[in-house]
Amino acid sequence: MADEKPAAEPKLTAQVAGDEDDEEARAGVDIWKYVLGFTEMAVVKCAIDLGIADAIESHPEPSISLPRLSSELGCCPSSLRRILRFLAHRKIFRHHADTDTYSQTPLSRRLLTRGENSMAAFILLETTPAMLAPWLNLSSHAAAAAAGAPPPFVVANGDDVWAYSAANPGHSRLIDEAMACDTRVAVPALAEDCPEVFEGVLTMVDVGGGNGTTLRLLRKAFPWIRGINFDLPHVVAGALPPCDGVEHVGGDMFEGVPKADAAFLKVG
Ligand SMILES: C[S@@+](CC[C@H](N)C(=O)[O-])C[C@H]1O[C@@H](n2cnc3c(N)ncnc32)[C@H](O)[C@@H]1O
Repeated sequence: MADEKPAAEPKLTAQVAGDEDDEEARAGVDIWKYVLGFTEMAVVKCAIDLGIADAIESHPEPSISLPRLSSELGCCPSSLRRILRFLAHRKIFRHHADTDTYSQTPLSRRLLTRGENSMAAFILLETTPAMLAPWLNLSSHAAAAAAGAPPPFVVANGDDVWAYSAANPGHSRLIDEAMACDTRVAVPALAEDCPEVFEGVLTMVDVGGGNGTTLRLLRKAFPWIRGINFDLPHVVAGALPPCDGVEHVGGDMFEGVPKADAAFLKVG
């Protein structure tokens, strides 16, 4: 044993030094993820703004050539090729080298402006200057939090998110549409996996129900439920048209909530 120890130690030291060298080399590469991390968000937003996924989806063939796509989108082909190369590398769209055409992937379909798996509105919401500004000032919040500073959204935008939305109808609509993206995935799963939760419920109030997507979906699964979509007045004013069995009621949940057998509350 006494002979073995000195031989093992240098090996271990060499191994540690090797690991540190590897980590140092890795750091030189990884740091670029943080220097240029914003590009992923920016290029995905660009794809939504241009309507790339919608154009490919409505194309009669499963894949589309660059000249055709750029003419449909009114884009410069060489810029579009670079954007698509960036996206295809992340499995957002697929490039077929043999035909030099592009097709959808499961991920690129999330960028469609409509459809049950669309997440486009959520991405558009989170990339607005109003939503990004609080994140970009996170350090000031951390430094001031002990002194009871207002939330970062208030510092950046002058009001809390709901008052800001009331004053900015475009932002309010984007929040509603973004929330509905998640709702279209989560609520059908809830209805399928936990139907017992809704047994015996004849009336349900969705508190902070946004544009009413949740109750529409719940009514599809449990058509006997009568729903009240309850949200701030400016939200219900712009909600989906009322449908059979669902009414919209505007108000402030901190003052009172319409009576029902059950209250539903989902926060994004
Ligand atoms: C995070 S969103 C969730 C929306 C929806 N439940 C969903 O999951 O898709 C929160 C909702 O609460 C609403 N809200 C905020 N403050 C409220 C209040 N005081 N009274 C009623 N609704 C309120 C907002 O307008 C917004 O629609």
